[in-house]
Amino acid sequence: MKIAILKESLSGENRVAATPETVKKFIALGADIAVEKGAGANASIADGDYKDMGATIGARAATIKDADIVMGVNGPTPASLKGMKKGAWLIAGLNPFGERKRVDAYAKLGIEALAMEFMPRITRAQSMDILSSQSNLSGYKAVLEAASHYGRAFPMMMTAAGTVSAAKCFVMGVGVAGLQAIATARRLGAQVSATDVRAATKEQIQSLGAKPIFVESVEGIEGEGSGGYATEMSEEYQKAQAELVSSHIAKQDIVITTALIPGRPAPKLISDAQIKTMRSGSVIVDLAAEQGGNVAGAKPGEVVEKHGVKIVGASNMPSLLAADSSALFSRNLYNFLSAYWDKEAGKPVLPDDDEVTIGIRLTKDGKVVNDRLLAK
Ligand code: NAI
Repeated sequence: MKIAILKESLSGENRVAATPETVKKFIALGADIAVEKGAGANASIADGDYKDMGATIGARAATIKDADIVMGVNGPTPASLKGMKKGAWLIAGLNPFGERKRVDAYAKLGIEALAMEFMPRITRAQSMDILSSQSNLSGYKAVLEAASHYGRAFPMMMTAAGTVSAAKCFVMGVGVAGLQAIATARRLGAQVSATDVRAATKEQIQSLGAKPIFVESVEGIEGEGSGGYATEMSEEYQKAQAELVSSHIAKQDIVITTALIPGRPAPKLISDAQIKTMRSGSVIVDLAAEQGGNVAGAKPGEVVEKHGVKIVGASNMPSLLAADSSALFSRNLYNFLSAYWDKEAGKPVLPDDDEVTIGIRLTKDGKVVNDRLLAK
């Protein structure tokens, strides 16, 4: 049973799909581990650290040759998987909707592609959820980015030279990233408010010491669809939300947006006209910039200035904290495979009728088999 760990090839990607800790644990389960040379270098892990735990180090071709499982953070190009065994598993964040052609190519290669971001949101799969583990760090980093672009201080300071007032920070979208953003902004001393379409988040916002800003005038809104995710809201709701946000946003110094709806473009939450009402020097961080953006004019990986307001378009935030994000990502992979490890077979076995298998399996026996992809 051989597991291969790839060196990431996506530009700007510093993470790696295994750490010395998870290599050690996989070896304890009975697996052989091959790590592509330099795979951990950008996450502060040297080849020697993997070697010390019992992994072998080699070039791509030698790493994937005879591997039963190939793991990465992102999906590799199908061409770079030439030589991979038919029937072997490819496990990574495969961006199935965005990289649909690749998924077809994985099927053609005869490999079984498993997309970790399709992990169902059920209690037993929480420790395997890469979206959660990575979003948490994104939420934290978003606030630090905002603070570093903000020409003022976050906490209130009373000094001999006078008082510095606390920054007002508004978090839009209170999922995993938003909750961490609230907690981080509070720790830095900001006055924090937050909003979401899911009514259940109101209590969570309050429990973190922030003020909930919610549309109350539109009846019958829960905003929660399957699996704890948001649903797309009615036009009436969107109008009411825009009005509420308009009056609130004009008084904010920092806005962090994190709103996403799975499989759809990110909802537009802040218009150019709303940006114009903000005080000069304010900062908006759009964590959804790569999914189409919550904020008008946001560009992934760029800081755009509009009406004196800096708009930071996030691009792979977890990669900026590569040591921690890799550690969590790697544990997600280990938690997944070890949960399905069949001791007698000496390898993980995924039952066809298991909710996790059905959720994450994209290809098998040369075909695309995932319902979410086929329904598109
Ligand atoms: P997400 O990344 O898909 O979306 C971020 C947030 O944006 C969500 O809270 C969503 O409601 C909100 N949003 C969407 N449209 C909006 C709009 N128009 N205005 C304002 N906000 C909007 O969500 P995430 O962070 O992945 O988590 C969603 C839920 O799933 C959470 O309740 C979380 O606790 C739960 N969860 C459960 C897991 C499990 O049981 N295994 C694992 C991870 C999360």
